[in-house]
Amino acid sequence: MSKRLTKAVIPAAGLGTRFLPATKAMPKEMLPVVDKPAIQYVVEEAVRNDLTDVLMITGRNKNALENHFDNVPELESALEEKGDQTRLLTVTKSADLADMHYVRQGAPRGLGHAVLRSRMHVGDNPFAVLLGDDLVDERDDVLGPMIAAHAKHGATVIALMEVPSDLTDHYGIATVEDIGEGDIVRIVDLVEKPNPEDAPSNLAVLGRYVLEPAIYDILETTEPGKGNEIQLTDALRRMAHENIAGGVYGFIFRGRRYDTGDKLDYIKAIVRLALQREDLGPMLEQWLDVESHRRK
Ligand code: G1P
Repeated sequence: MSKRLTKAVIPAAGLGTRFLPATKAMPKEMLPVVDKPAIQYVVEEAVRNDLTDVLMITGRNKNALENHFDNVPELESALEEKGDQTRLLTVTKSADLADMHYVRQGAPRGLGHAVLRSRMHVGDNPFAVLLGDDLVDERDDVLGPMIAAHAKHGATVIALMEVPSDLTDHYGIATVEDIGEGDIVRIVDLVEKPNPEDAPSNLAVLGRYVLEPAIYDILETTEPGKGNEIQLTDALRRMAHENIAGGVYGFIFRGRRYDTGDKLDYIKAIVRLALQREDLGPMLEQWLDVESHRRK
């Protein structure tokens, strides 16, 4: 019987170069998606899945992240005095969400290295990793089925999604085996960001992982790979090949996901989420309609 999952690790040390100059003095994780920073959606997703112990792997210039998940007494008392309970709640919500912890990555040596920095905090427990650039629509559950598969098999589970064949060089790509469990498959092989002509499939690794702690020993000896960085994909590949701690399973996610690290997808995420909102949706929809006719 595997231990209960309570810990989430969120790597947030990236430089956000794709969004310069917006990210020159502000962490990319703080870019708003409608009116909430992108990172808050990810922490909320962890908490929805009972992962209330959250460790963020940060770096220099990331203080805004810690501030966002903390109280701001002067702002709270100002809103309190005004009797603005609605806004007060939005301000205190992020501070009350989870039990937040932070550790710095030190040097940008890759996702595998960032995850290894969580070892002291996580110890000998299974844990989830959520990548901040991947925003999963609240209506579509990705971690739930992964946590269930982890409980059933007592082994590591990663999320997969189908991507267009010409985009394989943006993702870790998996070779999988059907085990008669529908969208839960067995991972046979993994390769980080192959060129389309070398890709074994179009099943990409999406930034959600439920990991057995055995991954740490593997990461300790994982040599830098693609981009001269220590890749989590390479460590998972070894786990799968050598069947370490039960090997690796995959959950094929078919819901909505946005890459907020990509400009076009970031804009799409904002439009999609705003369309669902009662206060913005109807007016935005009308405007989009007029705008699309105007441009024809
Ligand atoms: C990382 C992983 C990659 C995965 C991707 C998902 O890449 O290395 O395997 O497919 O996240 O978003 P990054 O996007 O950080 O370069």
